[in-house]
Amino acid sequence: MTENQTLTVRDNRTGEEYEIPILDGTIRAGDVGQIGRTDDEPGLAVYDPGFTNTASTRSAVTYIDGDRGILEYRGYPIEQLAEKSTYLEVAYLLIHGELPTKEQHDQWVHEITFHTFVHENLKSQLQGFRYDAHPMGMLLSSVGALSTFYPEARNIKDPDIRHEQIVRLIAKMPTLGAWSFRHAQGKPYVYPDNDLTYTENFLSMLFKMSEQKYDPDPRLAKALEVLFILHADHEQNCSTNAVRSVGSSQVDPYSAVSAGIAALYGPLHGGANEAVLKMLKRIGTVEKVPDFIEGVKNGDEKLMGFGHRVYKNYDPRATIIKKAVDDVFEVTGVNPLLKIAVELEKIALEDEYFVSRKLYPNVDFYSGLIYEALQFPPEMFTVLFAIPRTSGWLAQWLELVDDKEQKIARPKQIYTGGRQLDFVAASERWA
Ligand code: ACO
Repeated sequence: MTENQTLTVRDNRTGEEYEIPILDGTIRAGDVGQIGRTDDEPGLAVYDPGFTNTASTRSAVTYIDGDRGILEYRGYPIEQLAEKSTYLEVAYLLIHGELPTKEQHDQWVHEITFHTFVHENLKSQLQGFRYDAHPMGMLLSSVGALSTFYPEARNIKDPDIRHEQIVRLIAKMPTLGAWSFRHAQGKPYVYPDNDLTYTENFLSMLFKMSEQKYDPDPRLAKALEVLFILHADHEQNCSTNAVRSVGSSQVDPYSAVSAGIAALYGPLHGGANEAVLKMLKRIGTVEKVPDFIEGVKNGDEKLMGFGHRVYKNYDPRATIIKKAVDDVFEVTGVNPLLKIAVELEKIALEDEYFVSRKLYPNVDFYSGLIYEALQFPPEMFTVLFAIPRTSGWLAQWLELVDDKEQKIARPKQIYTGGRQLDFVAASERWA
């Protein structure tokens, strides 16, 4: 540690000074805890609801520079991965930390492909849901239920057992997601077709009807591949934090991942693209865009799909998705809402209100349009997010399990309730 890599803190309550080491641009909460500590009083703590400025871990999985609009998985720029890689290769990269050799890749794809089937009892469990069950609720509970089929999964210290569960989870997520989709339509569940690629097989399980073999459109399979790559990881967001927090109790990975799915279910995390679609439908025509923008500037509305907690420049994923929109619409026909979206973006990017607040389109601005063109109902949007995010959750979970510095997640609180109250039995209070 160099001499100036410290923080000198003077506690004005006592006049005492403390020198706290700075490492990697952070100070340790434990060092802050020395400030003002006495035999009777705990030391100073940090209050940070929502962890907006608290690092919970060291991680080598995903790098984001929000000011410059940079997103990298294991050091590789998202733009290059989206253009030249496949989802399964990216999943390998996230999980193993480096790109696979040809043998490693083939073995990985083989393993994932041959674990796509789920136990028939799980099918019965899904069939037990009401006809209008939300697919995300079905996915959440069926992934949690997987832990009961593989009880050895709780042995998280064994690398071979861990590997097997990772393969199973990545392999079975599309099957469970597709079956949740078919359930709502009252259509029979389609078994996996292991001759197809990961995204082709997913399309088959979603859309196959009476044909002997489903023939997926390669342009749609490729667009899904790109969307899956873009959603594979995004460092310490709400759902990843949920996986890590639950995983810190050393529970099996199925239970930890189902916690991630639960977090993603919430509208503040996985639901923004649905809100974008609703907004576009409400605007209705290109002519009404300027009025809508005025409403946003007056504070009456929010421009959904714009702005991001981390990206204060263009969200790099939005640029890539915009290209995928064209590929999908070539197959499905143009969604008329696209014109409204393009006009909104054009006006907003030139308008002082949005420019000064660094509000740019985020990943959700265009993804809903693609999903709708592919005939997914809005309830499926978060399922389409959870399937690829599984590899990121698992990469982060693996890092957690091997990290000697990690402990069970147990934040502090500032207690605001009553103290030392005398309890009077109900029979006396109500007498
Ligand atoms: N439309 C209009 N104004 C906005 C928007 C927006 N979408 N987003 C932020 N602003 C304004 C705020 O009103 C605020 O203005 P002020 O300084 O005059 O008060 C300023 O920009 C800063 O906004 P904050 O809310 O402080 O930014 P924060 O980083 O907390 O919020 C968020 C980020 C939640 C994403 C926000 O931009 C938003 O609500 N966007 C719309 C929802 C959305 O698209 N969410 C998806 C995010 S991507 C994802 O989760 C995968």
